[in-house]
This record gives sequence, structure tokens and C-alpha cells, in this order.
Amino acid sequence: MVDRLSTGIPEFDQLIEGGIPKGFLVAAVGEPGTGKTIFCIHFIAEGIKEDQPGIYITTEESRESIIEQAKQFNFDFDEAMNEKRLIIIDALMRSEDKWSLRNLDIKELIDKIIEAKKVFGYKDARLVVDSMSAFWLTAPAMARAQSYTFKKIVTKWNLTTIATSQYAITTSAAFGFGLEHIADGIIRFKRFVRGGQLKRFLLIEKMRQTDHNLHMWEISIVNGVGMKLSKPTPLRKEDIALPKKVVEEIRKTEEKKEKEL
Ligand SMILES: Nc1ncnc2c1ncn2[C@@H]1O[C@H](COP(=O)(O)OP(=O)(O)O)[C@@H](O)[C@H]1O
Ligand SMILES: [Mg+2]
Repeated sequence: MVDRLSTGIPEFDQLIEGGIPKGFLVAAVGEPGTGKTIFCIHFIAEGIKEDQPGIYITTEESRESIIEQAKQFNFDFDEAMNEKRLIIIDALMRSEDKWSLRNLDIKELIDKIIEAKKVFGYKDARLVVDSMSAFWLTAPAMARAQSYTFKKIVTKWNLTTIATSQYAITTSAAFGFGLEHIADGIIRFKRFVRGGQLKRFLLIEKMRQTDHNLHMWEISIVNGVGMKLSKPTPLRKEDIALPKKVVEEIRKTEEKKEKEL
């Protein structure tokens, strides 16, 4: 039997046989504003409720911003921090603080995670790294090797991890794929404008050891409540079609091959 951790979003848990397998490293990937941070907040809040302390690394926002966002969904992160059930580590924010990274450096990140984990003792804990791609902004080629090291260490320390990766189309090859290659699971967050309205979706692209759902689900983010899954979306042409640019590249390559023959 696989031991699973609830994400704190019951409808989502149902799509993955009840939860994320303990000890997994799951990549939550997608463009800005798609709901990755809010998903991570649920995951950590659920851990606090279940007596699995949480470590939240935030590179894109301040500690206060995460606390405020959590508060809007009725999660009291201040209280959890006071009770030593949550440590929020920020980066490049206040160099005086113990729980602040001085550099976006993987080794420093790992050392801080271990230091935080020791505060919780032998308990199973949850970890969020939001975002992981921030560590490879200046050295994208390092992503794959460093993801691998990172994964080995968090597994050894009994952490179940969600790591986000935020990228635009132009940089996807550089930041996203290192993490995705080594992840036990991949949750892709998407957004489209449909009928003049912003819609958000998620898709479970991979979850090892799990007979997971294969549909794209529409998400809603509700003030005072948090993330909800509304409905699976029927398959449309644009969901399966390759982007125009890619099709064009394939066509050109084919043409070139033919000429060479
Ligand atoms: N209290 C709230 N009520 C409703 N929607 C909210 C609330 N707080 C944030 N949101 C929505 O969530 C979005 C941010 O989601 P977030 O998880 O931070 O995205 P990402 O981490 O993928 O960039 C905001 O742009 C807004 O649309
Ligand atoms: Mg975010």
C-alpha cells in the first residue's frame, strides 16, 4: 500500500488515488498567475493540520506575501510559525534573518532545508520550493544535474516536496525540463482566455505509482476558500494540436530532408 498525503484540495486528491505518495517530489509547472503558489499553500496548510510540519521556500514573493495570501483562504500561517510547525524561508529579502537565503544557490538552499528540518526532529515534513527555476536563472545548464542532487537529499530527509517551475514559452527548455525529468509527478497549470474571460486549468501529466486522472480540469480560486476544481473539460482541437510554430519547424525539416535525398 502506498502511503499518500492529502493536498488539502479534496477534489484533487480524488484524481490521484487519495493523495501524493509520501516522499515524492512533484513538479508544479506553468506560467505566472495559473495558481501554483495557491496550490502549494493548500499543501502546506493541510500538513500543518495533519501534524506534518512544513517548510516553504519562497523566491518570488516575500514571506509576508505568502502569509497574507494564506490568510485570504483562512489559513493562519503566523500561528503555525509561532508553534514551530511552519518555517518560511525567503530569498534575497533581509540578509539579517536566519531564515533568509543570501544567494539563489542550490547548495545554500539544501543547507537551509536541512537546518529547518532539524527544527522539526524526526517527524515527516512537507516541503515547498516556490520556485525552483529561480535557482537556474543565470545557469540554466545546471538545472538537470542540480535537480538530481536536490531530489536525493530531500528524499533522504523524509520530505514530501512540491517544487514549482515558472516559465514563459521562450525559456521553457532552460528551466522547466531539468526538474521535470527527475520529478515523480508533474502537475501542469494552464491559463487561456475564453469568451473574453480568464480560465485556469490543471492537468496531471505524471504521477508515479498512481492510476491518475487524465483530464484537464478547470480550476477556480475562491476568496475565503481557496482552490476548487470545477469540471473536467472536453477534449478540444487546441488541446491536442501542436503549436503552429512547431508544426512549421517540422514541415521545414521534412522539406530539407527531401531535398537532400
Ligand atoms: N483572495 C483571492 N480570491 C480570489 N482569487 C484570488 C485571491 N487571491 C489570489 N487570487 C487569484 O490567484 C492568482 C494568483 O495565483 P498564484 O497561485 O499566485 O499564481 P502562480 O503562483 O501560478 O503565479 C491571482 O492572479 C488571482 O487571480
Ligand atoms: Mg507563484
